[in-house]
Order: sequence, then structure tokens, then C-alpha cells
Amino acid sequence: MQNRSQFIQVFPTDPTTQTKQNHHFKALRRTTVAPVTQSTIGVPDATRAILTRLDTFKSQFDSQFNSDDVSNLFEFLSTLRWQSSAETWTKLRNQIKCHALGRLVHQDPCTRRSYQKPRGYAGDAVLIDYLYRLNDDYQHLSRIERQLLDIVTNRPSAIAVRERLDIATQRISEILQKKPTAKIVSLACGHFRELLPLQHTHPIDRATIVGIDQDPDSLATIKTALPNLSLSLVNASVMHLIKGHYFAQTSNADLFYALGLFDYLSDSLAQRLIALMFGRLNPGGTVLITNFTPKNPDIGYMETFMDWPLKVRESADIYGFTNQIPQHDIAEIKLYRGTNDCIWYLELKKR
Ligand SMILES: C[S@@+](CC[C@H](N)C(=O)[O-])C[C@H]1O[C@@H](n2cnc3c(N)ncnc32)[C@H](O)[C@@H]1O
Repeated sequence: MQNRSQFIQVFPTDPTTQTKQNHHFKALRRTTVAPVTQSTIGVPDATRAILTRLDTFKSQFDSQFNSDDVSNLFEFLSTLRWQSSAETWTKLRNQIKCHALGRLVHQDPCTRRSYQKPRGYAGDAVLIDYLYRLNDDYQHLSRIERQLLDIVTNRPSAIAVRERLDIATQRISEILQKKPTAKIVSLACGHFRELLPLQHTHPIDRATIVGIDQDPDSLATIKTALPNLSLSLVNASVMHLIKGHYFAQTSNADLFYALGLFDYLSDSLAQRLIALMFGRLNPGGTVLITNFTPKNPDIGYMETFMDWPLKVRESADIYGFTNQIPQHDIAEIKLYRGTNDCIWYLELKKR
């Protein structure tokens, strides 16, 4: 899977080189899209024009729509998002969320779940199962619900999320091939779907596998979905770990990873957490984390009709996650993007 990814760099751990890399990344971070001024977006006329465009989308959807119409909507919203200043986008976002088009796109069960947040937070594991195409309610959906779900789960962000799952499966598999008694820890494990392909094919029974998630319902689903695996499941949040809880469960890991978590964390919490994860590794162990990139062309739709804002980050920000790790303890840093550029992968190997 890795060879399908766009590989960016393997950084040597020489501190002098790293300082230079830091400067390089700071320079990169400054290269951002110039915000559109209030004279083009943000004045009432411009807002009206945007809402009129959404009315047009709605009319198309009301009569008959095809996947191109929906793609155009995604592209329209993301372009708007990137061309607006943060302040303007916040205002626009709130107006778009209330537009009548929402009622139509919420026929997609994935968009609807994201917007309604039945578990109180965005991006729960049931929603991610839609992106994995693992939800079992497909047969019960209406034609239009299925049609919209197919379109949404064919968008680049969904494709990237499925690749992310494959990459995790691949990493676990590689580690278990080398060390069948390895300890694997997944933080924010959701439904632990990356284990599905491994359950019958690897000597997974000799490994210690720990899944941690704040959501007890997701942990309950794991028990049903993977009844033959002996897993250690911990109902805990990032803050529990930061406070020093569950030390034994998370120590001496050979792989400590988190998929779909860092996109929710502030920079400072991300730095603390990754240092903690790295500190709990065995020598030679690996931390793997992921984060959406700004190249995600679905960001506008996600932030409006799905009400699912994620912290997209540039490479410099991701590299900055390592700031609190003693640099001489890092044997290797790999930072790369998935095939369609939507997701960053950061892998840190401990000396
Ligand atoms: C986007 S899902 C990803 C699930 C799984 N890792 C995957 O990739 O399929 C995010 C998961 O993170 C969990 N989560 C979010 N914030 C968390 C926190 N602060 N501590 C622990 N788990 C958290 C949620 O409960 C949810 O299961």
C-alpha cells in the first residue's frame, strides 16, 4: 500500500539537519491561498449570489440529479471555503448550513448522521463505516438515499479513508510477521475495522492488541464484530492518557497508532499526545498518526452540510507534532501523503 502513496521525505535525525528542515517547513506554511477580500465575498450581494447558486443546485436536485451535479456542489463549496477569509467563511458556513438544499443532501444517511450527531460528536465509527461501505442498513435505504450515499462514498475523502484503513492493516500485518508477540495499541480505535482482514490470516492470537476509544458503543460493536479475537478494549479518552491513566495498557508498544484522531486535536495537544505515544514504544517501535491535508476537495461540503469541521494541516504543522520528542530518540521520520493527497501519514520509529 505504501508504494501507492506519495512519499514525501524520510528525515535524518541529525539535529542540525532538522533545524534546517524546520525553517523549510515554516517557509512552506506561509504559502497560503490569498483570502478573497470583503469586496468580493462577504458583502450582502456576494452572499446573495452564493445562496442563489445553492437555490439552483436545489432546483436541479428537485427535478433529477446525477453525480456530476453533486460533484459540482462539492467543488463549489470547497472553492468558496478556500477563497474566503476565515471570518467570512464562518458567516457563510452558518448560512449555507440553513439552506433548504440541506434537506435534500441529508437524504444521504452518511451526511445526515454527520449533521445530526446522534452520539454527540462528529465522525463516529458508525459514520466511518458508511465510508468503509461496511454499514448493514444498505438494503433498507430508498433509491435516492442509496444513490446519494454512493456518490458521497466515492468522493476523494472517502476513498482516502478507505486507503487509510488498508495502510493500517498493512502496518499491523508487517509488524506481526516480524514479531508475532508484538503489542499493538490503537488510540481512537472506533470499530477497529483494520483487524477484519487479519483475524483469520495472521498469528494474531499471540499478539497483544489494545483498542482505546472514548465511545463505549463503538467498543461494544468491536466485541460483536471480532468475537474470535482476544482484544484488550479500554473505554478512555485522550485526556485520560495525558493524565497518566492506563499506563500499563499502553506501555511497551511495538506499534502505537491513531487514525482519524489528530484532525480533531489542537497543535499543543497533538504534540503532547504524540510525545506520550512515542514514549510508550519499545525500542524499534513505531508511532503512526494521520491527518487530513488541505488538498481534501470535500472540505466545504463537510464543514457545511455535514457540519464536520476537521483541522486540515500543512506538512510543517504535522512535522511540528514531533517538537516535544527528544530528537535523538527518533531513528526515522516518514511523512507522506496517501494516493489522492487527502491524508498525511506520519510514522516515527524509535531508536
Ligand atoms: C473518525 S473515527 C476513527 C475510528 C477509527 N480509528 C477508524 O479509523 O476507523 C474517530 C474515533 O475517535 C474517537 N475519539 C474522538 N475523540 C477522542 C478522544 N478525545 N479520546 C478517545 N477517542 C476519541 C471517536 O469515539 C471515534 O471512534
